[in-house]
Amino acid sequence: MNKIFVCNIDELEEGEALKVDCGVNGIDALAVFNSQGNFFAMNDRCSHGNASMSEGYLEDDGTVECPLHAARFCLKSGKAMCMPATDPIQTFPVVIEDDALYVDMAG
Ligand code: FES
Repeated sequence: MNKIFVCNIDELEEGEALKVDCGVNGIDALAVFNSQGNFFAMNDRCSHGNASMSEGYLEDDGTVECPLHAARFCLKSGKAMCMPATDPIQTFPVVIEDDALYVDMAG
């Protein structure tokens, strides 16, 4: 399993996001979110343009809004939920081990 260390579990508070360097599979960085106590990871780059999803806005419905043109994406599937984005953002499983968060790049 190709895992990227994110942080200790208590360092990513509810409603917050972190940008993590990646460098695997052509992905420069990951955005990792704590949405209502659940952790999600996706490519940090918006599928629509050059925006950092870790700077986006978490919504109560399990989506994140892009900070640039306000497209929303499903945190779980990466699916684009509204215009102007149509392509999904690749998502990855988050693994918790010994109170640390990792993103599983092989999953
Ligand atoms: S760059 Fe994200 S919606 Fe345009």
